[in-house]
Amino acid sequence: MAGKHESRMETAKLASWMKQSKYTVVLTGAGMSTESGIPDFRSENGWWRRIDPRSVATKEVLYADYTLFHEFYSMRIRGLTCCKPHKGYYILAQWEKNNIINSIATQNVDRFHQIAGNHKVYELHGCIRTIRCDSCGTAHAMGDFLDGSGCTGCGGRLRPDVVLFGEALPRDTWEKAMTDIERAELVIVIGTSLQVYPVNQLPFMTRGRIAYINNEIGGDSHQFDLFIKGKAGDILCKLDEIITS
Ligand code: APR
Repeated sequence: MAGKHESRMETAKLASWMKQSKYTVVLTGAGMSTESGIPDFRSENGWWRRIDPRSVATKEVLYADYTLFHEFYSMRIRGLTCCKPHKGYYILAQWEKNNIINSIATQNVDRFHQIAGNHKVYELHGCIRTIRCDSCGTAHAMGDFLDGSGCTGCGGRLRPDVVLFGEALPRDTWEKAMTDIERAELVIVIGTSLQVYPVNQLPFMTRGRIAYINNEIGGDSHQFDLFIKGKAGDILCKLDEIITS
């Protein structure tokens, strides 16, 4: 099939770019974790079809309807317990170890990149595995959040350390990710619809090439130097086979 053949050619081309590049940065989204059993947000069976995160993951809901906020995040946190990074995550960790990639900027909050062994990871949308009081900032145990407790210090509302819609991204993390991407010779975007600002601007800040690995092409593929349609885990395995052969 042309599709299959084309994908093989494109994968070989990306592998050669990776070999040439002295500074490669990866940007990941929820599509990197669907093969680990975590739904993404905007594809067919993503969260949006069931729950609209933009209507729940907000400061307003944190104060106006804590029950809904707490239920949404408790469900996502509990959903993590039976999931683990798939092979593609371990390939990215091996690539960091072998200096094939320099860093990863991620929109994901599941911390799978670090669990798989990557160290230079910029969590642009924070992390769901750690909890703080929204009023005084005191860190709390996950159990305090799951059992619906208030802050032990000030009685404030507990919430995960994720970036809620309308909140600013962590400044230092954003700066580091932007600096890496600006200087990169190659940016590899994996498993994101690039629908959410400002991360959807990040890949295009690079002076280098941009390759896009995704199940589907949302916008027009011409904004990328290369587009490989496929599953993140499969494509990463194929790339790794070529690079290590
Ligand atoms: N391999 C490759 N691509 C995949 C796979 C896969 N196995 N599974 C899903 N995809 C693609 C989908 O087709 C979709 O285009 O990944 C993309 C995921 O896009 P979104 O669901 O919009 O997720 P993301 O881009 O990470 O969302 C950004 O939105 O709700 C907020 O804070 C949340 O960080 C999230 C942000």
